Amino acid sequence: MSDKINFKLFKPFGSTLAKAELPLQLIKDFKDDLKAIREDKQKKKDHNWGDRLIGSVSAEYLVTPSVMLKWKRQFFDPIIVSYTNAHYKQEKVKSVLINSAWYVVSKPGDYNPLHNHCEYIKGSNYDLSCVGYLSLPDSMIPTQNAKSHNDYSAQIQFVEGSENKFSDSQLRIDPKVRDWYLFPNYLMHSVYSFNCEDKNSERVSFSFNATINFE
Ligand SMILES: [Fe+2]
Repeated sequence: MSDKINFKLFKPFGSTLAKAELPLQLIKDFKDDLKAIREDKQKKKDHNWGDRLIGSVSAEYLVTPSVMLKWKRQFFDPIIVSYTNAHYKQEKVKSVLINSAWYVVSKPGDYNPLHNHCEYIKGSNYDLSCVGYLSLPDSMIPTQNAKSHNDYSAQIQFVEGSENKFSDSQLRIDPKVRDWYLFPNYLMHSVYSFNCEDKNSERVSFSFNATINFE
């Protein structure tokens, strides 16, 4: 892929986030991969990742490694390296390791409680996490008792630190298909439920954890 990759860094509070628009071919590859997994009984079982995650969601499946690897090289690596270099100007990134990548299939009423992606295994940890949106319900209706002036439906909320007069501690984002957000693995976040007339409607996203290795 020779197209220029556009992304921006933003810093609404202490942590830096990156936002980019996912290539259409990436969306197609990921959706095709998820469809193939869900249509195959054995693959569905082999790719089941729900037991490793905390979300109260319909299903979570591991992304097929070859699909993830293709887009890691073509799209994610350049952004992750630039993001890292923005903070570590004197260091050179040797490699980016994707520890795991998974799809999240949410149905009306599902949610993901406040959490981060810290997993301290033998002293090591991930560095970065992300979320990208593959599909959203065609039409959502307000969740039960939702206030029209403050509808959190399907939003992701990032939380860091304490609110103060000139310091924001939270950022709420409406998911949009093709939007992708990169953030530090320790940044707390939660996902709110949504509601639809059709209870089989789905909100599909993917996430991964990455570790940065320096030279
Ligand atoms: Fe998460």
